[in-house]
Amino acid sequence: MSFLKEIERRRTFGIISHPDAGKTTLTEKLLLFGGAIQEAGAVKSNKIKKGATSDFMEIERQRGISVATSVLAFEYDGIKINILDTPGHKDFAEDTFRTLTAVDSVIVVIDVAKGVEEQTEKLVDVCRMRNIPMIVFINKLDREGKDAFDLLDEVEQKLGLRVTPLSFPIGMGYDFKGIYNLWEKNVNLFSGDSRKNIEETIEISDLASEELTNLVGEKAASRLREEVELIEGIYPKFDKIEYLNGELQPVFFGSALNNFGVRELLDCFVEIAPKPRPKQSEERLVKPEEKTFSGFVFKIHANMDPNHRDRLAFVKIVSGTFERNKPYLHVRHNKKLKFSSPNAFFAEKKEIVDISYPGDIVGLHDTGNFKIGDTLTEGETINYKGIPSFSPEHFRYINNADPLKAKQLYKGIDQLMDEGVAQLFTLELNGRKVIGTVGALQYEVIQYRLEHEYGAKCTYENLNVHKACWVEPTDKNNEEFKEFLRVKQRFLAKDKQNQLVFLADSMFTLQMTQQKYPSIKFHLTSEYN
Ligand code: G4P
Repeated sequence: MSFLKEIERRRTFGIISHPDAGKTTLTEKLLLFGGAIQEAGAVKSNKIKKGATSDFMEIERQRGISVATSVLAFEYDGIKINILDTPGHKDFAEDTFRTLTAVDSVIVVIDVAKGVEEQTEKLVDVCRMRNIPMIVFINKLDREGKDAFDLLDEVEQKLGLRVTPLSFPIGMGYDFKGIYNLWEKNVNLFSGDSRKNIEETIEISDLASEELTNLVGEKAASRLREEVELIEGIYPKFDKIEYLNGELQPVFFGSALNNFGVRELLDCFVEIAPKPRPKQSEERLVKPEEKTFSGFVFKIHANMDPNHRDRLAFVKIVSGTFERNKPYLHVRHNKKLKFSSPNAFFAEKKEIVDISYPGDIVGLHDTGNFKIGDTLTEGETINYKGIPSFSPEHFRYINNADPLKAKQLYKGIDQLMDEGVAQLFTLELNGRKVIGTVGALQYEVIQYRLEHEYGAKCTYENLNVHKACWVEPTDKNNEEFKEFLRVKQRFLAKDKQNQLVFLADSMFTLQMTQQKYPSIKFHLTSEYN
């Protein structure tokens, strides 16, 4: 197959949702369609069960599973589909944000009863800002839930999307009769009995037909006819270009658990979802069709075996082909590296591959060369943008608890930060090290991993910080900035990139500081330049 055809047939996407909306279940059903797995239950849930926050074995188990399910690839209808897993747990939200830099589109899963939840809002915000094409799947239609039109309103208002339903439910919960597919113009009926099994569907192509009345009853049939008329009247007509530009989001309804409405979603997805998209580097826009290879690291995963400290760096291929044993330039280190055993990912396993194409993810064994955001090329010096750090929510001093192991501790901290587990800030005043995280769970992960992988011990000490703000002065030499540096010295730190950060102890302090030093910009993400 030609290089261009290989690009054409790739779809790389992520499924995002609030925990428990059905992301894992949907992923599994998609894999079943692709024939990548044979039975339900084969994909392990990649989430930390409730109440497991202090269970280290659970954290380790989670890490093991997340390596296996980081990328799930399968073929459907001649299309190569790569699903990038995004952790649902909010303490790992930053990992999800980074993974979103490597997807070409997303499917947003929403629970019909719970509607739009907090985590969905945050993730969709990021996708909207980047104009990532999104398809919405409203799940659990076999249960009682919110009215479909109310839900569409909620999606529009809370998520700021412009939606158009491409399928619509006939009844809900106990009364759920099936869905009308506006995309394919047919009806699929839900046979209420064996709700746990893969669904048989009956298709009718004409909404006005008597057959519909016979199948779902007069009441449901006339209601559906009215609803569809309403949909056609109030929602915009689906337009693929608008969808691809992130300006219009099609919505599907179904039940992942019952495998109902999933085929419709998948068929539409392979038809409309984007093939690998061009990506902006600091220097220029890079197109997938370009002959020379380039890619970037969006995730690093530590080896599960503590005796083996190598890690797996996940690289998204942006352009050209990635070939085994060919030397590539590690741009940040200006060093050529060769990879003798790059991994490609299939359903739940990984295998060594000789060649990979744009849209694909390769897993590269790494002994500490990579950090998140690094660019690899065939020789050109370009740097991919767009792996931001957000202000952490929690801040603690980290102290060395074993003076003989200081070297191990600092090496461990350094590598864990490169993996993106947390952020490190070094105080300007006294050089003390502060770890900032999105969730409290990370502190336990760090402590545990430092001890088991690096043989180092640490303790933490609370630090009262509300937000870390990256500081951007208009002019480094003006008096205002000099005064700011002097007055706020106690609250200033450097991040790992040596960028200046202001650690504000409250929202009030931050506002006052902003007022007092209007020529300085304070950013809550590191990606401002
Ligand atoms: P997540 O990855 O988004 O966190 O969600 P996951 O797929 O694990 O689903 C969360 C729960 O919702 C699971 O139940 C799952 O079986 C259920 N679920 C998913 N899709 C549907 C659906 O279409 N209808 C109904 N009724 N339930 C659905 P659980 O009891 O938490 O887990 P399990 O014991 O069934 O694995």
